[in-house]
Amino acid sequence: MKNTVTTFQQMKEKGEKISMLTAYDYSTARLVDEAGVNSILVGDSLGNVMLGYEDTIAVTVEDMIHHGRAVARGAKNALVVVDMPFLSYQTSVYDAVVNAGRIMKETHCGAVKLEGGAVVCPQIKAIVDASIPVCAHLGLTPQSINAFGGFKVQGKTVEAAQKLIDDAKAVEEAGAFAVVLECVPAKLAKLVSEAVSIPTIGIGAGNGCDGQVLVYADMLAMFSDFCPKFVRKFANVGEIMRQAFADYDAAVKDGSFPAEEHTYKIDDEVIEKLY
Ligand code: KIV
Repeated sequence: MKNTVTTFQQMKEKGEKISMLTAYDYSTARLVDEAGVNSILVGDSLGNVMLGYEDTIAVTVEDMIHHGRAVARGAKNALVVVDMPFLSYQTSVYDAVVNAGRIMKETHCGAVKLEGGAVVCPQIKAIVDASIPVCAHLGLTPQSINAFGGFKVQGKTVEAAQKLIDDAKAVEEAGAFAVVLECVPAKLAKLVSEAVSIPTIGIGAGNGCDGQVLVYADMLAMFSDFCPKFVRKFANVGEIMRQAFADYDAAVKDGSFPAEEHTYKIDDEVIEKLY
């Protein structure tokens, strides 16, 4: 059954955990969808994972549309959420609605995600008023990495923790249907989850959240540039791929690939008539 923002809300009300994984292409989206994961996030982490950037700052609306529409084609049941990249919504409410609208129209996703709390509530409200569901993102918001001065756990002082709770309430009030909490102490994330009626989706925020999200390339050990503490490697696909590539290289070089069964046939008479 197709997951929607309503499914998210019902799952929170019933106390059922929501699963979300990132994907950036059709084939991975199909696998994630077939596995029964509730939602696929086309995160701007594609800047790191797919494009090899150091951070997400350089990712464009065009990048998100390109990957978002491939994922949407592969997701039958999962709710597809596409990230709004840096400076596609911070600049003005008008830009936010135009870019969210482009992402929705050109990818056929089910929702967009943007980073920030009270400061982006006018944008959230306007996008939601345009009938586009919005997922918010609080805590460590990677688009603000230069302002944070690095990847750091957020909300550790009384002021910062209170601001996180206030921001979560503000994005709910503005109409967000869910909120991602990234790199937040587990006890604080649980408090936030109890303080709002929309689902919280944690990443590095403990199991008191209403759901969890991971970058698929992290949980499969395919991305090795850095690995945050909160990642569990569910399979070492990176090593399986590396070994398979090495086996291919060796088989090509020793002539054992392609073998008979990988080869197309032609009648000998045809060959004999050639000069
Ligand atoms: O871009 C992304 O993948 C994200 C997740 C880390 C939540 O925003």
